[in-house]
Amino acid sequence: MCGIIGFVGNEQPLGGMLIEGLRRLEYRGYDSWGVAVGQNGTIEVAKRAGRIVKEAPTLPSASIGFGHTRWATHGGVTDQNAHPHVDCSGRFAVIHNGIIENFRKLRQQLLDAGHEFISETDSEVLAHLIEDSVGDRTDVTSVTEGVRTVFGMLRGLNAFIVLDNHSRHLFAVKNVSPLVLGHNDTGSYIASDSLALVEHVDDVHYMEDGQVAVIGPGEIRLYNHESGDQLNLDWKPLTITTGDTSLNGYPHFMIKEISEQPDVIRRIVTDGIEPVRGLAELIRESYGTFLVGSGTSSYAALSGSYLFSRIARRHVNFNVGSEFKYQEHFLTDRSLVVALSQSGETADVIEAVMAAKERGAKIAALVNVPGSTLDRMADYSVHLNAGPEQCVLSTKAYVAKVAILLLAAHILNGSEHAGREILWQSVDGIERLLSPIASDHIRNVASQIVDRDHCFIIGRGLSYPTALESALKIKEVSYIHAEGFAGGELKHGVIALIDTGTPAIVFSPLDETRDDILSGAMEMKSRGAVIIGVSPEDDEVFDIHVPVADVGDGSPIVNVVPAQLLGYQLALMRNLDPDKPRNLAKSVTVK
Ligand code: F6R
Repeated sequence: MCGIIGFVGNEQPLGGMLIEGLRRLEYRGYDSWGVAVGQNGTIEVAKRAGRIVKEAPTLPSASIGFGHTRWATHGGVTDQNAHPHVDCSGRFAVIHNGIIENFRKLRQQLLDAGHEFISETDSEVLAHLIEDSVGDRTDVTSVTEGVRTVFGMLRGLNAFIVLDNHSRHLFAVKNVSPLVLGHNDTGSYIASDSLALVEHVDDVHYMEDGQVAVIGPGEIRLYNHESGDQLNLDWKPLTITTGDTSLNGYPHFMIKEISEQPDVIRRIVTDGIEPVRGLAELIRESYGTFLVGSGTSSYAALSGSYLFSRIARRHVNFNVGSEFKYQEHFLTDRSLVVALSQSGETADVIEAVMAAKERGAKIAALVNVPGSTLDRMADYSVHLNAGPEQCVLSTKAYVAKVAILLLAAHILNGSEHAGREILWQSVDGIERLLSPIASDHIRNVASQIVDRDHCFIIGRGLSYPTALESALKIKEVSYIHAEGFAGGELKHGVIALIDTGTPAIVFSPLDETRDDILSGAMEMKSRGAVIIGVSPEDDEVFDIHVPVADVGDGSPIVNVVPAQLLGYQLALMRNLDPDKPRNLAKSVTVK
């Protein structure tokens, strides 16, 4: 989590550039922000709790500076706890992404040695540790050594950057948390995500774990943290454009990205088949395949386990990233782990992949961000090609993952043509839901449930993961408590919560689940629920019918769209920002 951007180069009013970069990264964390620039002898800091300001803070022109958006882990959301943090001498400023697991002990040692702390964060120990470790030495080599020493003292997954106002360099190092380097005629850049650099550089170097970057005005040098050996930079073209990252006339990224879903699937069926064939081959060769992901990616993975079962007659295991390590014991060097992640940075998924690698398993990734940590760790990657997803809620990456898994299942089954056909039908099905008439209907449904506290969502079979994902979309953006569950589980407890007027969304595709799911709907209706049926055909049990196309096994791709739209409308009606719900961040790089 947390967004980072830094610059060393020509003197200029850096405040505006840093704030603009932070705005692009705000989706990574948005409870506070801060920037610092190095001046003659002093470091000027502007930082505050709350969303990033529209106007750049007044900071003097400078040739070195960096900025940070925070997602709080240690210490409340306050001005003091916002980054950057400065050491006692005022020479070093530090920004950090991650969690320093042993920070309490380090903080105590520093307090005992007389350091004064301003914040409650784990991050502030870094400023004081660097101060101690570098001492009076001012040359770049000594500061590099100091950074290596401090990095060696940390436990946990961390990336940090030090601004040294004497040598006027930035020093960066990372373990799992991502950092990317770039440069142009005016200077050198560092960021936690290439999105922040899209306007400035053409090529980027993705830092590997344990690499230390020393960033000066005209050059960037790279070292191995343990040996101190100098390393080569591996520049790769930055393929994102500013066009991909703008709103393009939409009021919010959420609705922009929902509307892009037909194109995302079109790209998979036209240009994206070859990598999916490779994935199907890996699954065929493996002695056991395990799908893993977190949040929305976990529901795409769960959908995949159903799709492989019904289409390819293949048992594919599934677990969420954070639980994987408790179930990894049977993995061998013939196992395949397919890790799903929009960002490619989710710590729970990265940790699962690391554990699987230790057991010799092969790793395939379904990932949207090329060059991300997961992409680089995987033996084989299928890129979603969905374009940058900037709304904190995942929408288009979800349908891309499900579409790829559906296609892979068909390829495995020898029925690629049928798989492509379903995806084309799904494109049409989503487009119909995006029409003005369908959108008005969803707005109307939203107006009927906007004041409710709870909403229940049921599905069976393929529609069970859709129910879970739909509940997540609605709750995280509207803060209405939405709970998704398997239709058959209704009578095992949840039905106790149904009351007069409780909205209940029922996924009822024209498949083998229809009769049973409609019975479940009837049981809820008898207890006062208002039944919202998402189905190609109306039924007497539905109080409200949301018509969707009949796309067979493509139903998880199409049927989630009404829930995405419903969540969006509910957020607008409740005056909430659909792109940045409270307490969330786009890249969850802490465990
Ligand atoms: C929900 C959402 C999250 C992410 C989860 C995993 O809308 O966005 O649940 O799906 O944090 O993120 P990725 O896919 O980047 O690994």
